[in-house]
Amino acid sequence: MKRNDPCWCGSGIKYKKCHLRFDEKIDSMKFIKNKNQARPPHKIINNAADIEGIKRAAVINDGALDIVGGLIKAGVSTLEINDVVHNYIVSHGGHPSCLHYENFPKSICISINDVVCHGIPSKKEILREGDILNVDITTDLDGYFADASRMFSVGKISDEAARLIRVTKEIMEVGILAAQPWHFVGDIGAACGKMAHENGYSVVTDLGGHGVGKEFHLDPFVSHDCAAETGMLLVPGMVLTVEPMINAGEKNVFTDPNDKWTVRTSDGSLSAQWEKTILITETGNEVLAS
Ligand code: MF3
Ligand code: CO
Ligand code: CO
Repeated sequence: MKRNDPCWCGSGIKYKKCHLRFDEKIDSMKFIKNKNQARPPHKIINNAADIEGIKRAAVINDGALDIVGGLIKAGVSTLEINDVVHNYIVSHGGHPSCLHYENFPKSICISINDVVCHGIPSKKEILREGDILNVDITTDLDGYFADASRMFSVGKISDEAARLIRVTKEIMEVGILAAQPWHFVGDIGAACGKMAHENGYSVVTDLGGHGVGKEFHLDPFVSHDCAAETGMLLVPGMVLTVEPMINAGEKNVFTDPNDKWTVRTSDGSLSAQWEKTILITETGNEVLAS
C-alpha cells in the first residue's frame, strides 16, 4: 500500500496519516516470527466507524441482559426468558445473532448448573430454586455484533455455587486486565488460568473467546488457560471477547449428541461463565458489551 492511498482500514484517510506507523511497528516486532505468535490480519482491525457500530449493537445487548434478572424465578421456563429477550432485541431494531446461527434454534443461550454453554431454551426446562444459570446474548445491528453473558441464580443457592459465580467473574476481570496493546492474546489465558487454579477450579479449553465485530466469530481464538506471550499480538482496534468457562470439578466437557449444542461437564460438576466484548485501545482496553 502506498503512502497516499486510502488506508486499508476503510477510514477514508490517507495510509500515511492512518495505519502506516501501526504496520511499521508490527513489522519491527521481529519476535512475531516465533511460531507460537501470530500477526493480526487487517480484517479484524476496526476503524472508528466500526467501533461506533459495535457500540450501538452493544447498547441493545446490554439492555437485553439488564432485563433478564427481573425474569428469573422458580417455575419460569427458559423459553419464556428467550422470548422476552428476543422481543426486546427486535423491538430495539437489533437481531438476536444466535437465532439460526449454524442451525441453533433459539435466540439466546441459557446454560443451567452443569451446562457449560450453548444451552437451548425450552418450554420443558423450568427454573428451580437453587439453580445457577448463564444467559449469553449476542445482538447484531447494521452488520455489527456485540456478545456478552452474565450469571444469575434462582432463590437461595449453595455457598459453593455462589463462590463459583463470584470467582468466575473475577477470572474474567483479570483476563480483561491482561488484554493490553502490544501484548499477546495468550496473556489473557495465562491470567485466567492462574487465578482459576489458585481457587481449585478447572478451565474449559475446548471452547473459548473470539474476535467479534463485523462478524459473530472471528480470529483470534481466546484461550482461558494457556501460556503467556503466545498467540496473536493484541493491537489497537481489535475487538474480542473474554468469556472464561470455569468448572468446579474437572475440565472435560461433552456435547449432547441429541441436540448437538448443549455442552455439559463430563463429571456433572457445576460450571459458570461470564463474558464481555472488549476493544483493545492505544492505552489498554475498553469494555464495549457486558
Ligand atoms: N454467544 C456464544 C459465544 O459467546 C455463541 C453462541 S452460538 C449459538 O460465542 F449458536 F449457540 F448461539
Ligand atoms: Co456469548
Ligand atoms: Co462469545
